[in-house]
Amino acid sequence: MRFIHVACFDDWRSEARGLLSDQIPPTEVHWSAEDDQLGLFDQIQEKAATEKETESRSGNTEPSTRFSVPTPFLDLAGHVACHQDPARWQLLYQTLWRIVHGERRLLEISTDDDVHLLQLMRKAVTRDVHKMKAFVRFRKIETEASAETYIAWHRPDHFIMRLAAPFFSRRFKGMSWTILTPHESAHWNQQQLTYGPGLPASEAPKSDALEDLWKTYYASIFNPARIKVDMMKREMPVRHWPTLPEATLIDDLIRDAPSRVNEMIENYEGFSKTAAHYLPIKQDLRSLQQAVSKCQACHLCNDATQAVFGVGPENARLVLVGEQPGDREDIEGEPFVGPAGELLNTSLHQAGIERREVYLTNVVKHFKFERRGKRRLHKKPDSREIYACRPWLESELAALRPKTVICLGATAAQALLGRDFRLSQQRGRIRMTEWSQQTIATWHPAAILRMPDKNRKREMVQQLIQDLKRGAEFSE
Ligand code: URA
Repeated sequence: MRFIHVACFDDWRSEARGLLSDQIPPTEVHWSAEDDQLGLFDQIQEKAATEKETESRSGNTEPSTRFSVPTPFLDLAGHVACHQDPARWQLLYQTLWRIVHGERRLLEISTDDDVHLLQLMRKAVTRDVHKMKAFVRFRKIETEASAETYIAWHRPDHFIMRLAAPFFSRRFKGMSWTILTPHESAHWNQQQLTYGPGLPASEAPKSDALEDLWKTYYASIFNPARIKVDMMKREMPVRHWPTLPEATLIDDLIRDAPSRVNEMIENYEGFSKTAAHYLPIKQDLRSLQQAVSKCQACHLCNDATQAVFGVGPENARLVLVGEQPGDREDIEGEPFVGPAGELLNTSLHQAGIERREVYLTNVVKHFKFERRGKRRLHKKPDSREIYACRPWLESELAALRPKTVICLGATAAQALLGRDFRLSQQRGRIRMTEWSQQTIATWHPAAILRMPDKNRKREMVQQLIQDLKRGAEFSE
């Protein structure tokens, strides 16, 4: 076994070249990394282009020529190298190994497990870069020479400083600025972009005149009639709010918006606590299941008997997602074991699907209810509870990587397909999401049970069976 320690993408590149040249298979290499990403992504694209050019001109016999790595791989690798997952170096090497050992067109096979994972990582990095471009807010400071300098603090999820900084040097060319992140800082002196070590948030100024300006601007463009809280949260993730001056206005502005929306986001600070605090380091299903029992990300844990995690095989290709456990599920600790579960069972049977081959879970893991005498009546989870619980579902889906996800009901559909999803109009349509190639939404069995009109009820059952069948066909 070879133990290789890399600090940056360039390190990985030269190590990978040496290993390929020595014919060392991925199974015989153990990669380790450090957080210091300095040197990452240094002109990777230019390098790739230059190498290609040199190779074609000189026909030299350097290892890079013999392995002639396709440029799309280098581009993908440059992004994946910025992902925070320490497993990225191993994954990159094993993919590169396969490419140079006969699978030249591997990257075109997006159903391949390695390729799929790399694509997800690239997507996460690209999204993080996009968020950094959108959420960095500079604050003015006076330097000793009384020149103006702008400073911003940002906390990306991945090591993306070098991917994002050139954008700021183009956009704010005539300003001297510094962006601080925990891993790395970037400095622009109106001529040159340089990088330095990361710095804690305490180094960034808290407020100044610029902040008021931002607030005025934000208030002037904010239109309560068009407010979409979910979109806001998607576009302006809550974890960035503490560094955005305009975020302090959101509460006030939203208070004037329509009451339904107002209720959803009444106190945006409530959104900041999520199950992410309770996720285990190792995120396989067993570790997640153990960890969920300790979750206190929202108040639902106070009244529920227990957290109800998903059940099913870890290699399930089909995942069904419901809303939240009901009364029976809360007591038994398993999803879909009550009346809705019975209807689901018969529908699965009629669709030719074995329940034990399917993974069943819910968007929210604790039962939400209202007491009426001795009865506990189901209560729909609100957006704050759904938001708080979401990391569990996302981690389950990341661990399972199913072919197909079927959302049962509007809560699951809106959680995975977007707030604008309308079950009555979009039921049964196949969409690709970051969690699976096929995501379909269909009726929730509980909604069918509640349907008073018998004919309509029969029709909905048939539609449920038909949608389950389609989902199962796709996941074969
Ligand atoms: N309804 C759901 O959405 N999930 C369950 O587990 C039970 C009923």
